[in-house]
Amino acid sequence: MDAAVVTDTTLAIAADYDNRPDALIEILHRVQAAVGYVPEEVVQTLADTLNLSRAEVHGVVTFYHDFKREPHGRHVLKMCRAESCQSMGGEALVKVAEARLGVSCGGTTADHSMTLEPAYCFGLCAMSPAAMMDGRPIGRMNEARLDALLREARS
Ligand code: FES
Repeated sequence: MDAAVVTDTTLAIAADYDNRPDALIEILHRVQAAVGYVPEEVVQTLADTLNLSRAEVHGVVTFYHDFKREPHGRHVLKMCRAESCQSMGGEALVKVAEARLGVSCGGTTADHSMTLEPAYCFGLCAMSPAAMMDGRPIGRMNEARLDALLREARS
């Protein structure tokens, strides 16, 4: 999506909320849903439109992990790093995923095929360690399952 379309989309969404500064988070969620992430130019556009400082908008975008600053890969693998999954070897699996993909958690592969994201409990603690691939929950993860998921996503 080019910058002009992103700006028009952002302005239209903000207008749905009467350009209210207290609606900033809802507006950002809708921009992200429409664009796929929150591009840098959106920060200034919303600051101007909602009569906020650029720092205020930037602070919200960077504080909440849900807001992405760059486009996702075609697939998103979320790996749980919360307590139950940690105690069941989740961190070691995260390291394996990072090594297989060549990115740190939070990053996207150079070919944009995959984004690896941390998560903090899917409510699947009884099936730790847990992950989620493109919104599909996966319990009892292990290295073989991880490799199968990565193969499937790249095929
Ligand atoms: S701690 Fe990982 S799913 Fe709950």
